[in-house]
Amino acid sequence: MTGPAHRLLQAIRPARHLHPERLCATVGRIEEVLDRFLGRKRSRALLESSNSHELARRMPVGPAQARDLASAIAASCDPDELARISDMLERSEISTAEAIDLHIRHKIPVSGLESDIVPVRAEGCWLHAIDGRCYLDLDSDYGAANLGASNAELGLALMNQACELISMKEERVHIPRARFLKTILEMMPGALDRFYWQNSNGEAVDKALKIAKAFTGCRGVIALEGGFHGRTHGAVAVTHNPAYREPFGLAQEDWVHFVGSDDVRAVEALLAEGRARTVIMELVQGEEAGIRPLDRGFAAEVRRSCDAHGAVLIFDEVQTGFGRVAEKPGQWFACQAYRTLPDILVIGESFGGGYPVRKRGQTPTLDT
Ligand SMILES: Cc1ncc(COP(=O)(O)O)c(C=O)c1O
Repeated sequence: MTGPAHRLLQAIRPARHLHPERLCATVGRIEEVLDRFLGRKRSRALLESSNSHELARRMPVGPAQARDLASAIAASCDPDELARISDMLERSEISTAEAIDLHIRHKIPVSGLESDIVPVRAEGCWLHAIDGRCYLDLDSDYGAANLGASNAELGLALMNQACELISMKEERVHIPRARFLKTILEMMPGALDRFYWQNSNGEAVDKALKIAKAFTGCRGVIALEGGFHGRTHGAVAVTHNPAYREPFGLAQEDWVHFVGSDDVRAVEALLAEGRARTVIMELVQGEEAGIRPLDRGFAAEVRRSCDAHGAVLIFDEVQTGFGRVAEKPGQWFACQAYRTLPDILVIGESFGGGYPVRKRGQTPTLDT
């Protein structure tokens, strides 16, 4: 088999050395694609001629069926149809209905399912869906994909490192970590030059809270109304919306104090009374509040209060980091635009360009 027919065969039965991650196409997916491009009648005829109708719809086709099907389809289609069919099968070997069903049945839901589009690949900010349609991505995966929803440079770097040394425990020096530190140090504001990697934003918030509590010796934390910090146990406890906290018995935590997002006096009072020694906030409240920038004066006043009472100020820049609030080139973080520095900076989302790496940067003084 050669040329376009060979491409089709590889789309149905991907070569293991090229795509170890992929299964063979299911009958259901092949049928879905043929229905779309050839119409129901031609699709039925093709699938029957290779006896594939006897297979369960969710079963991947075997090597012999794959060859038969590829030959039959190639013989009955013009080159344009063949290219489209191959392209669609390369997008997914699992049918739309099966993929959605697997998700609904087996993925524990966190928020509402968006099954209207099943994205399978991207070019920059354009998302290509399993059904061949193309969409302009205005969501950018909660801001994680600000280098584009597929980025060849990022992909190459990930593949190179995965093929060299995929991971290394943190007790050992790791050259990619050293290389990375050299790069990020030049981007960090103020004296923030100590780092700790996490796997998710919520985890990074948790670690920031733990460091602040250990450093101050005080368990009290001040968080803002309208703020969102994630869904891990600690991060959700300091997230304002009670609906996120109540199911976990975190609605009335005595160590968390929510204050209005412009209420400097409440912050000052809690710090002065010694009921809290940590303040956490987003400079632009995102997930829960829409896009609500905090007042610059408020951030500066909270900084002054924290300094006066030996409290730790945490900025959660998961959403705002990496140029999203920049006023001019070189401003990577919102705290630079706000001209107010935190003691701990939580960064994530676009930090990894879609790959899960989150971090906290902290000032050296907190280590002492
Ligand atoms: C400001 C902020 N912090 C923390 C998080 C938690 O992120 P994740 O749930 O991905 O861990 C989010 C998520 O959107 C966020 O917007």
